[in-house]
Formats: sequence, structure tokens, C-alpha cells
Amino acid sequence: MNLRGLAAKVVFQVLEKGVSLSVALPEQQQKLSSGKDKALLAELCYGVMRYLPQLDKLISDCMSKPMKGKQRIVHQLLLIGCYQLYFTRIPAHAAISETAEACRQLKFDGLVKVVNGVLRNLQRNQAPLPTDNDTLAFNTPAWLVKRLKDAYPDSWQQVIEQSHQRPPMWLRNNQLSQTREQYLALLDEQEIAATTGSSDNAILLESPKDVALLPGFGEGAASVQDGAAQWAATLLAPQADELVLDACAAPGGKTCHLLETEKSIDLVAVDFDAKRLERVQQNLDRLSLNAKVIHGDAADIDSWWHGDKFDRILLDAPCSATGVIRRHPDIKWLRKQADIEDLASLQSQILDHCWQWLKPGGTLLYATCSILPQENAEQIRAFLARTQDATLVPIAQQSNSGDIGWQITPGQDNMDGFYYARLVKG
Ligand SMILES: C[S@@+](CC[C@H](N)C(=O)[O-])C[C@H]1O[C@@H](n2cnc3c(N)ncnc32)[C@H](O)[C@@H]1O
Repeated sequence: MNLRGLAAKVVFQVLEKGVSLSVALPEQQQKLSSGKDKALLAELCYGVMRYLPQLDKLISDCMSKPMKGKQRIVHQLLLIGCYQLYFTRIPAHAAISETAEACRQLKFDGLVKVVNGVLRNLQRNQAPLPTDNDTLAFNTPAWLVKRLKDAYPDSWQQVIEQSHQRPPMWLRNNQLSQTREQYLALLDEQEIAATTGSSDNAILLESPKDVALLPGFGEGAASVQDGAAQWAATLLAPQADELVLDACAAPGGKTCHLLETEKSIDLVAVDFDAKRLERVQQNLDRLSLNAKVIHGDAADIDSWWHGDKFDRILLDAPCSATGVIRRHPDIKWLRKQADIEDLASLQSQILDHCWQWLKPGGTLLYATCSILPQENAEQIRAFLARTQDATLVPIAQQSNSGDIGWQITPGQDNMDGFYYARLVKG
């Protein structure tokens, strides 16, 4: 199967079956041997997710009737073809012939002429990218555009624009292995250009690199983690020997960072998803760190924990992930408007329950990778209103001291969109 055919299969899995890109893409990438081909496959699939409405419209305008049922994969193939013509430097003749060949390999010989015809039409006509409505103009579902307009009346266009950028690669220096300056020197020796981020161990690479090229990566000298996510450990600030709960821990990026920050803590890492939990243990092993890894529900701690209440709790809650669309553009099509209310209700349930398990005087850090107020500031406002013994402790980085929590928007200081609220009990 050629690369365009594999790309069509990935896009089909995401759009027709609701599988996330981070699951569907590696399944097809493993069929390719060269790193360059794997990167091109990713580029085509990510590109289609970023610009789906415009690509869909351009194709539909060239066809008399839509592809249905089993033929949908040919529609996905046309999206791949159209993306190559409009958004890449791949020569048009190569893009068209490879895409038509993929149609044959996918066993739709009868549609090869249609694929050829539609793509040649697109190439000949050079129609401008359609912008007739918000979904088309911003390549984002209308409901999300509306929510972003409401939440960010002065900057919503910038928020959307940033969500279409290719994200940078961030590293977290492992302070147990070396100082950040020492790791920057090691990167420099390998001619890997990098600068420091705003939190203590954050390093921003000038361009993404295969982790195999990073000095000491296999031995745990550094981890890949966005600059925004790296604020969790600093803001929770665990102290020596404290009992700490990481309530939604998988895949364990923040679990490991908490232990790197203060190795003596007694850390309980919990997640609802057994499969994702395996990655927490793998990450701990790579970094030679220890935590109690438990498969459990953060909204029912009593069923799996019979020890003391916790000094500190990190609640990195399940959320819409609207702050990380630049890394996971499929979120725009997999998330539905109704999910937001469901998620907000799940978040408040977990938050209320975790609060019961926090010691008086203890700190709970609420975090999401969402940029929607319903999951963030409004969530915390409602929590403060119903919780007598909760106090919000402002975060120095907030733009206004009166804000409820710290909302980071996508691209701000090169970071992902993220939200933090620090709550103290008593
Ligand atoms: C944003 S992710 C956590 C990311 C993680 N903290 C990290 O830094 O690698 C949210 C996690 O919450 C988990 N989750 C969802 N509902 C849960 C529940 N009721 N109890 C525990 N974990 C839950 C999901 O399985 C998912 O792994």
C-alpha cells in the first residue's frame, strides 16, 4: 500500500470510526520503514485534520454526488490529494498520480478515473480556499468558534490561528540527573539549538527532534513535555516527605515531574484507564522513580485508598483538550458540543470528591488543557461558591490578580493552552 493509501486509512479511522489520530497514525506508520516517509504520512494526516472543512468543500464542489458507505475511504483519499495540492510543495503531477494509484491499491479500480478527474479539476481551476461561513473561514466547528468568541472577545481569532500552528517541541530537564544549564550544554554539543522556558527545567527546541538523538534520553536525562504542563509541579510545590495524590495521572508526565522536583514524597498515582496507566509505570521506570500506581476512580477514592488524607493533590482533570488542538487537530472533529457540559459535570464531581481527601491546610492544584471557561474559571467559581473551606490562592503568572486561576492560551510563550487554579483548604 502506498503512502497516500495509508494516509486515507488513518483519516478514515478518525473521521468515520472516531479513533484518535494518536492511535490511528502509529498503526499505519509502522508499515513504513523510512523516517522521512513516516513524517510525510503524519504531515498529510495532520494537515487534513487542520483544514478539513475547506478541503471537504473544495472536493464536494467538484463532484455531482457524495461518496457513501464503503466508498467513503475514497473521499478521505481525495482529502489527502486536495491537501497536497493546496498546502504542500509536492509537485501536482506526483500528488495526483500517487493518489490515484492509492485508489487502485485500495481496490476501488472503478473510481480511479473519478479521483484523477477531481484532482486534475482542482489543479486546473485553482479555486480559492472557501471562507463562506465560520466553520470554513476558521477550519473549526461553528459551535467551538462561538464559544471562543464568547470567551475571548478580543483575541479569539488569534486563539484559533495559534491552534492551527505546528507546535514546538519542549523538553523537561531531569533535575535529578543534571542542571538545566548542563543539559543545554549537552544539546549544544550535539548541535541541537535550544532555549530556556519560563519554568525551572523547561527547554524549548528550535526544531523538533527524534528523541533517539537527544543526549541521555533513554537513561532519563530529559523528557518530552510541553512548557505549560511543566508548571504543574512548580505550582503544586510538593515538600519533603509529604503524601501526594496525582488523581488523574496517566500517561504520567506530571507524576514523574513531581518526583523529580521532590524525590522524598510519597506519591500515589491513580487513573481510571488501565491501558493508559501502563504508560505511567513505563515512564517511572525510564526515569528510575517510584510511586504507588493504582487503577481507580478519582471520584471514589474510598474504594481504593485506606490511608491518610493527602497533603497535596494534583487534579489534572479529564477535559475537552481544546488547548492542545495544535498538537491534536482531530480534537476539533471528535469533540462534540454536548461533551463540554458532560465533562464539566465530571470535573466538578471529581473535584468535590478529591477535596474530601485533602488534609486541612493542604493544597489542591486543579489543571486542564482546555481553553473553555466552563471547564476552568467558571468551574472553580462554582466550586468556591459551594465549598466553605476552600480558598483560591492567586498564581503570580495570572494576567490579572483578580482572575480566577491562570488561563494560558495556545501559543502564549510558545506553550499549549492550559489552565491552573490553586486551592487551599481551611
Ligand atoms: C489530562 S489526562 C492526565 C494527564 C497526566 N496528568 C499527565 O500529565 O501525563 C486526564 C486523565 O484522567 C483520567 N480519568 C478520567 N476520569 C477519571 C476518573 N474518574 N478517575 C481517575 N482518572 C480519570 C483519564 O484516563 C486520563 O488519563
